[in-house]
This record gives sequence, structure tokens and C-alpha cells, in this order.
Amino acid sequence: MQMSNPTRWQRGLGAVAAALVLALGISLIEAAPAAAQTQGREVPSEALSGGAVPGGSLGTSSDSEMWRAVRGGIQGTVSIPDAKAGILVQSEGENWRNIRNGPMLTYGSWLMLGMIALLALFFVLRGRIKIEAGPAGRTIERFGFLDRFAHWLTATSFIVLALTGINLLWGKFVLMPVLGPEAFAWLTTAGKYAHNFLAFPFMLGIALMFVLWVRHNIPNKYDLIWLSKAGGLFTSHSHPPSKKFNAGQKLIFWATILGGLSLSLSGISLLFPFEFAMWAKTFAFLNIFGFDLPTNLTGIQEMQLSTLWHGVVSLVLMAIVVAHIYIGSIGMQGAFAAMGSGKVDENWAREHHNLWVAEVKGETPRQAAHPAE
Ligand code: HEM
Repeated sequence: MQMSNPTRWQRGLGAVAAALVLALGISLIEAAPAAAQTQGREVPSEALSGGAVPGGSLGTSSDSEMWRAVRGGIQGTVSIPDAKAGILVQSEGENWRNIRNGPMLTYGSWLMLGMIALLALFFVLRGRIKIEAGPAGRTIERFGFLDRFAHWLTATSFIVLALTGINLLWGKFVLMPVLGPEAFAWLTTAGKYAHNFLAFPFMLGIALMFVLWVRHNIPNKYDLIWLSKAGGLFTSHSHPPSKKFNAGQKLIFWATILGGLSLSLSGISLLFPFEFAMWAKTFAFLNIFGFDLPTNLTGIQEMQLSTLWHGVVSLVLMAIVVAHIYIGSIGMQGAFAAMGSGKVDENWAREHHNLWVAEVKGETPRQAAHPAE
């Protein structure tokens, strides 16, 4: 079979067709990435400028500023009801955990153990403080039923709050390895309920004690004498004059009232999370006196500050109360009866509260200072 040679016009037509195919091929290759990129979504015009390149990659631009803000705790918006989820990274949370499990536990342990060691040393050196003239065998009423009710309501609830609070702070490290996770979880859950509910009798007790005893706890000139002699606690035959409460007791009273109030407020903010922004308001108030505290706090920061403050105040108050319990029980002969039966031995009263005895018995302070024979 013989092939006929293409004519000149056929060759020209072929060349034009080849050129067209080539041009079409090149334009298709160029268009392919753009087509792949735009498929399914719109490429915003600004993404094609400012150093960014199409395709979702950053090119020469960087979003480190945005991530720095995220790392710094910036709050974005979320479509779920919990607006707090709009904060991706909350660095204060890590600081909070470090403070709570670090210095707070370390210094808290030192404070509590230090106070117990001091009291043990005091007991060894000074022994039980005796009624120097010996018991008179006659009593004077010191606290009525309502006084003792207020005291024991506060005291019993405080002791359970303290023990369950101590478990919240140290339990995981001290009790859990001993009890095992299940028994510890059970105990801590029960403790948590006790802590939540006993907060209310504690607050009631504090309020009652305040109303009943505040008038006896206003500082007076005898407090300075009492303090200058350290209450005669370290020396025998030394009994500085005192009305119903001496300066040491006034310090315990105000520590209980103010510490209790502060614990109550921070405790309520923990009981009803994210309901009260009390720290921003407190800081704004303190800033009036020249402080420079942050007032733009997130809800989580508010909660973190509440837990830290609640812990610190409770540790200080526990240390004070341990000393109070010591002196009100084994540390001083005749003291417990005041809150037990409500009646104290007359000689005890004359030695420790001579001006109060004078008031009650209508004597002169000089007469009241001399123990009854
Ligand atoms: C087993 C524990 C406790 C004992 C044996 C005890 C004993 C006493 C005694 C005997 C008094 C009367 C002192 C006097 O007649 O002058 C007293 C007063 C007082 N107690 Fe307690 N107490 C205990 C727990 C607590 C607790 C836990 C708190 C507070 C959280 C507390 C707060 C007070 C206050 C504010 C006073 C009046 C001021 C003073 O006397 O120091 N007590 N306590």
C-alpha cells in the first residue's frame, strides 16, 4: 500500500493544531493549582497579599502575635454556653497549681508544726499554769448558756472544717498513699460535703460570738500593760490587770472574727463558683490607697485567688487556734471550766481577770486582785 505524501496545506494545518494543543496544555498546567485551591472554598483576597501565599500556608508572614496572645490568656468567643472555654491557655492556672502545691504546703507545714513544737516546748519549760493561790472552791459564772453555745458551735464546726481542709491540702500526698485511692476518694468526698455544709454553722457561730462579746474586746489601756508583760505567761507571780478578756484573748477574738469573716467570704465565692467577682472589687478598693493591683480579672483568676486566700487565712487561723486550744485546756489550770460548766474558780478569776471580778462583785480593783482565802 502506498501512502501519499501530505500536501503543503495539510502540513500547515497540522502545525497549527499542534500549536493549539501545546498552548491549551500549558494553560491547563498553569490553572491546575489554582483550581485545586479554590475547590470548595473561597480564597479571601487578603490571603493573596501581605506575604501570605494561597493554600493555607503562611509564606513569609507569621501569626506568632496571635499565639502569644493565646498563650497570655486572651479570651475568644465560643458557641457553647460556657464562655470560659473561649480561653485556650490560662497560664495563671499553672502558677496557681505551683503556689498551692509548693510554697503554700511547705510554709503551711512549717507554720503548723512550728506552732505545735513551740507549744510543746512551752509546756516542757513552763508546765501547766497553775492557780497560784490554789482553788478557792467557790465559783463565779463566767459564760452563760448562749455564750457557750456560740463558742462550741464555732469551735466544733471549725475543727471539722480544719481537718477536712487539711485533707484537701495535704491528703493527696500524705493520706492517699496510706489509705489507697478508693478509700481516700470516699473519705475526701464525705469531707468535702462536711466542709461545704459546716461552713454555715461556723458563720452563724462567728456572728453570734461577735454580737455577744464585741463590747468586751474593745482595746483599753490595760492591754498595753498586759502585752508589755507578755501576760505574765512566762513568769510566776505576775498577773497583769485585766477585765473580762485580756489583750491575748482580744487578739484571739479579733483573729477569729476577721479571719472567720474573710474565710466566709472567700468560702462563699468557692461554694458558688463564678458568681462573685470579689477580687477585682477588692483590688479596686486597695488601689485607692496607692496599690497597683490588676482589676481586670477573668472568672478563673477570681476563683484561683479565692482558693489561695482561703488556704492562707485558714492556715494562719488554725495555727492561732491550736495555741488557743492548748491554753484553754491542758495549758492552764481552771480555764476549761469557763467554757465547760460556765463557772470558774474564784481564785482563777482573781488571778487572770481581777478587774472583771471587781465589776461583777462590786469590789475595788485592789480587793479583787487578792485571791480569796
Ligand atoms: C477544743 C477546742 C477548744 C477549747 C478547749 C476552747 C476553750 C476555750 C475557753 C476555755 C475559753 C474561755 C477563756 C476564758 O474564760 O477566758 C475560750 C474562749 C474563746 N474561744 Fe475557744 N476553745 C476551743 C476551740 C475554739 C475554736 C476552734 C475557736 C475559733 C475558731 C475558739 C474561739 C474562742 C474565742 C474567740 C474565745 C474568746 C476569746 C478567748 O477567750 O480567747 N475556740 N475557748
